[in-house]
Amino acid sequence: MILPGSDSQSLDFATKAISEGKLVGLPTETVYGIAANALDPAAVKGIFDLKGRPSDNPLIVHLASSEQLDRIAAEVPKAAIELAKRFWPGPLTLVLPKRPEVPDITTAGLDTVAVRVPAHPVALALLEKTGPLAAPSANRFMQLSPTRADAIDSQIAGGLACILDGGPCEVGIESTVLDLSGGTPTILRPGMISVELIESVLGVQVDAGESRRSPGNYPRHYSPRTPLRLVRELGADDSGLTFNGPRNERQIQMPAEPRAYASQLYGALHRLDELGVELIHVQLPPKGAKWVAINDRLTKAAESSIS
Ligand code: TXA
Ligand code: MG
Repeated sequence: MILPGSDSQSLDFATKAISEGKLVGLPTETVYGIAANALDPAAVKGIFDLKGRPSDNPLIVHLASSEQLDRIAAEVPKAAIELAKRFWPGPLTLVLPKRPEVPDITTAGLDTVAVRVPAHPVALALLEKTGPLAAPSANRFMQLSPTRADAIDSQIAGGLACILDGGPCEVGIESTVLDLSGGTPTILRPGMISVELIESVLGVQVDAGESRRSPGNYPRHYSPRTPLRLVRELGADDSGLTFNGPRNERQIQMPAEPRAYASQLYGALHRLDELGVELIHVQLPPKGAKWVAINDRLTKAAESSIS
């Protein structure tokens, strides 16, 4: 059931559902999530069951504001405070030592917890009422993350008390995950908040994390149902994403600017899936720093379609 997210009755309905241990479809600025009370192990188990997600893949805990960080994180280093000040609410997730109140199932048994404050008015309004919410992306394991309420798979939607519709997600790909629990800050998942931006705030070098990735950041991930191939140019008859003018009705022209590209990427792949094309060709984006996260998602989607 899709409800208008900005309506106070919808928020009350969703708040009650969360307090009863149910799951709610949540809009964020990155992608839609499946939210449950992060401190209720039974509710969190519902997320893993509904997604078909392996239990060794920890969830992100979402907060209404950085003031609640102390409830979740056992230590909040200076770097976390600086980054929170600059980027929250926003698409940056910080991995910190966890407090014992956070159940093992939420963090997949790790002694760290991933946290972020999302920049979406509907998410923030719900979080104000419910307290900390665990929320992974609202896709089944290894599928595309939805960036619109109506792109949530019907099987997932069937397991939710409601979906709060917050319109299309502005950022369009998942948050940057940065590990601050050890020595050198390390990127576990690239996102639109780049290494360069983080370094400019911290004034120290960040490990871009090529050798270390989040648990559950499998090479197969982020894939449309249709196989995907990265190419230099699309042929006149190919289906897919191009930077040039479309040459048939199965070609989608993508923006040349990375933020706009990211915001449209999953929606465009979803549309091609729906059209039922046999192979999605994607014209290779540029290699620059601002394209790292986009290239990461596309490479994973392409790798997943080789076998
Ligand atoms: O933008 C986003 O981050 C979205 C929206 C809904 O907030 N959420 C999202 O959640 O993408 P999910 O569950 O699809 O991805 C969470 C990522 C995974 O790669 C997971 O391994 C990593 O965060 N993660 C969570 N807790 C962690 C921890 N304690 N240590 C290391 N990585 C962690
Ligand atoms: Mg995900």
